[in-house]
Amino acid sequence: MTEYFEIKNLAVGFHTFEGVRDVLRIESLRIKRGETYGLVGESGAGKTVLALTILGLLPKPAAIVHSGEIWLDGQDLLKKTDRQMYTQYRGKRITMIFQDPMSTLNPVFTVGQQLARVIEAQQHLKGQANTQKALEMLEIVKLPDAGRMLEKYPHELSGGQRQRIIIAIALTCGAEFLIADEPTRNLDVTIQAGILKLMDELQQEFKMSMLFIANNVGLVNVVCKNAGILYRGKLVEDGPSEKVIRRARHPYTQTLISAIPRDKSEALKFANTVIKPDAEHGCPYYARCTLAEDACAASEPMLEAVDGAQKVACFVAARRQP
Ligand SMILES: Nc1ncnc2c1ncn2[C@@H]1O[C@H](COP(=O)(O)OP(=O)(O)O)[C@@H](O)[C@H]1O
Ligand SMILES: [Mg+2]
Repeated sequence: MTEYFEIKNLAVGFHTFEGVRDVLRIESLRIKRGETYGLVGESGAGKTVLALTILGLLPKPAAIVHSGEIWLDGQDLLKKTDRQMYTQYRGKRITMIFQDPMSTLNPVFTVGQQLARVIEAQQHLKGQANTQKALEMLEIVKLPDAGRMLEKYPHELSGGQRQRIIIAIALTCGAEFLIADEPTRNLDVTIQAGILKLMDELQQEFKMSMLFIANNVGLVNVVCKNAGILYRGKLVEDGPSEKVIRRARHPYTQTLISAIPRDKSEALKFANTVIKPDAEHGCPYYARCTLAEDACAASEPMLEAVDGAQKVACFVAARRQP
């Protein structure tokens, strides 16, 4: 039996001038129905490539899916045709919130026009009923003065307001599975907190399952039951977010967490980390790891259970008691 959402042995690469470059290799990632999974990783880790793979939106012919299965409610999305993904999944059962709300909203149409179009397409409402629904959606995402908001163009809104409109559009689709790709990346910290709270409330209210992508571990703890840490396209730690964050076992996760500085000495703690050459067949984190041993250069550690549901891909961490 597969989980409601489950990735198995996924490997994705890109054709480049130097040949094929592999950017993603995920053995297993599971999300239960109605649950939120936080995926954290630094820039370039492969987070967006994963989101695009799930949606069937990888750039062609540059990207190659070498192998894998992506199950959603008993169906393998990788076996679907472009047409099936377009007519049955994207914007229907699965929806996505991108990191840049400006690129998702169309600058030449008002908020009202953009919402009306989605409401008509998805819920077949016209005229007054359509407008009523639009007002209702803006209230759900807690945008005050909804009537005036409908008249506005995207450039007249703040970043936080735009992201709320995007969330309203995503909810209008009635999707059961939401992928949020760094939805608060371009927002001020205080605005960010408001959007996170909203997403958390809506996820619970609408019982959506969610893949929440972030480059900051702190955000994941707020919204997600489970979390995974992606490093160079591989999951290096996976488990209940509380454990992954509070009792991180992988040296990379520990670095991510202590990289949130409380004072100057903490901020500079990793400034002198010596970066070794990559180990071709070894652990992807070898070059930057302060715990690395000879074995880590020779072969690659796989995710291994360490403490209940918590798994870690590190020979040293797996050996240590928590
Ligand atoms: N169209 C592309 N062609 C070649 N390489 C790409 C392409 N898109 C992404 N990549 C590479 O894939 C890796 C993961 O990128 P991405 O998923 O965007 O990272 P992030 O975790 O920041 O979202 C990066 O090394 C990036 O350079
Ligand atoms: Mg990205």
